[in-house]
Amino acid sequence: MKHFLQFSDLSLEEYDYLFKRIALIKHKFKSYEKHQPLVDRTLAMIFEKASTRTRVSFEAGMYQLGGSVVHLTTADTQLGRAEPIEDSARVISRMVDLVMIRTYGQDKINSFAAHSRVPVINGLTNEFHPCQILADIFTFIEHVGDPTNPLQCLKGKIVAWVGDGNNMANTWLQAAKLLGFKVHISTPRGYEVDHNVTQLGSSDCYKVFDHPKAACQGADLVTTDVWTSMGFESENNARRVAFNDWCVDQEMMSVANPNALFMHCLPAHRGEEVQAEVIDGPQSVVWDEAENRLHSQKALMEYLLLGTL
Ligand code: CP
Ligand code: NVA
Repeated sequence: MKHFLQFSDLSLEEYDYLFKRIALIKHKFKSYEKHQPLVDRTLAMIFEKASTRTRVSFEAGMYQLGGSVVHLTTADTQLGRAEPIEDSARVISRMVDLVMIRTYGQDKINSFAAHSRVPVINGLTNEFHPCQILADIFTFIEHVGDPTNPLQCLKGKIVAWVGDGNNMANTWLQAAKLLGFKVHISTPRGYEVDHNVTQLGSSDCYKVFDHPKAACQGADLVTTDVWTSMGFESENNARRVAFNDWCVDQEMMSVANPNALFMHCLPAHRGEEVQAEVIDGPQSVVWDEAENRLHSQKALMEYLLLGTL
């Protein structure tokens, strides 16, 4: 049994398979062709934080695969009344085939997985957002690469990360290490990536820049995220000051590779971490990126439950 708790949980060979499978599943979806390998399977989705994309993509995705879903939140379950996570895992995993969790600390999802009889998927924690990076990299491959050899186009590419050293940044770094690209990362002082979390083992896959524009120089993809992630709202005022210069604008895009893409996991705050001219401009692929959450998670759920087909 496999879990998907962080990007490093799967191997290069598994990602090669998954990216090919995502392309096939997307093609079938676009052709109105049924693809229902998960008939009679049930996914439990546990949300301890808000969501639009993750909720819709997992729920619609599981129904499209022929299965069904149970939607749970902290407020309407015993999770909100201090039932231990280990007990919740033991119970929920006896009743469903697969669990997706969005929560705070990675320790919580790790504990759930350790006591679960079924695969567990990380739908975002404070530390990681692996489903988003799966979709983001598929989107890059779709725009730049060859779907029959998906990993090829990633080798040696530069991804510029402008902003917080958060769950998205950590996950980009894990992906870079595994898939052979490099992250040029610029965060305000005090908001750097914590390498106790990323567990990279070396610094070969990233380079740190003081100035965000310098990080964008020659990049093949420029990406950013909100200044304040869910769970950090009490830091909002301090972050507004610290992140003021970490706003992706046309000037930053102009020093990137001329064909560079712009991505943002969404939700976005125009005028804060990105200017409207960029997110709504010709290099932005944010709507493909959001849609690809659906196709990539369908491939992921199919793989975790059925293996390679
Ligand atoms: N990008 C993302 O995970 O969006 P939601 O918070 O809407 O799920
Ligand atoms: N870093 C953001 C991503 C939201 C999808 C957060 O954790 O709130």
